[in-house]
Amino acid sequence: MRIDVLTLFPKMFEGFTSESLLGKAIDNKIVEINIINFRDYSTNKHHKVDDSPYGGGAGMVLSVEPVYNALISIDGYKKALKILVTPQGVTFSQEKAYELSNVEHIIILCGHYEGYDERIRDLFDLEISIGDYVLTGGEIAAMVLIDAITRLVPKVISKDESHLFDSFSNNLLEHPHYTRPSEFMGKKVPEVLISGNHKLIKEWRLKESIKRTKERRMDLYNKYRKESNDE
Ligand code: ADE
Repeated sequence: MRIDVLTLFPKMFEGFTSESLLGKAIDNKIVEINIINFRDYSTNKHHKVDDSPYGGGAGMVLSVEPVYNALISIDGYKKALKILVTPQGVTFSQEKAYELSNVEHIIILCGHYEGYDERIRDLFDLEISIGDYVLTGGEIAAMVLIDAITRLVPKVISKDESHLFDSFSNNLLEHPHYTRPSEFMGKKVPEVLISGNHKLIKEWRLKESIKRTKERRMDLYNKYRKESNDE
């Protein structure tokens, strides 16, 4: 999988692309990430990428030209899935992450300022928001997308740490986990987990997952019931 990111703050991606699971996936050439500073594509002598809005009003608007120039400089940009991150987009989800993990080439534009020139929107296929709050810019949103998507790409996570059991993958939150010590400040690990009985452990985990989802996320629990016909 290849992801090109158009940003005005390339340094924000340095730690993100060199550490942890993504750093390893890049080293192992399973994922390729290119960070492109689209200010370099401004034809303005001061490298300006924004301007005041037509019709007046506060704030600045991201100009279409530098974005367009940067976009067409990317090899294979026509075929790539082009995503704009914006609070006005469709809300990101685990389901969307699965869908996008099958795409070979993705381009993500991170905006700043008050907004995008509307003609930028026409250059992109999809607008995604990571939630109902406003960030200073799209970089953190792009990182959220990249993190959630790339960990689902085959071979990024080893089979024994499979994401198939992640929260949300079956509309349930994960069950509680424990590791050594078996007792901490009087709090004991549930007996069943030490029993060695795999069938009972599986049943306990499902029961706890359902209980936790029902307590914390009624919306998800209803979806689980509907999709698993667990009336
Ligand atoms: N840019 C600013 N806020 C955002 C959000 N919530 N989602 C995606 N991009 C954004």
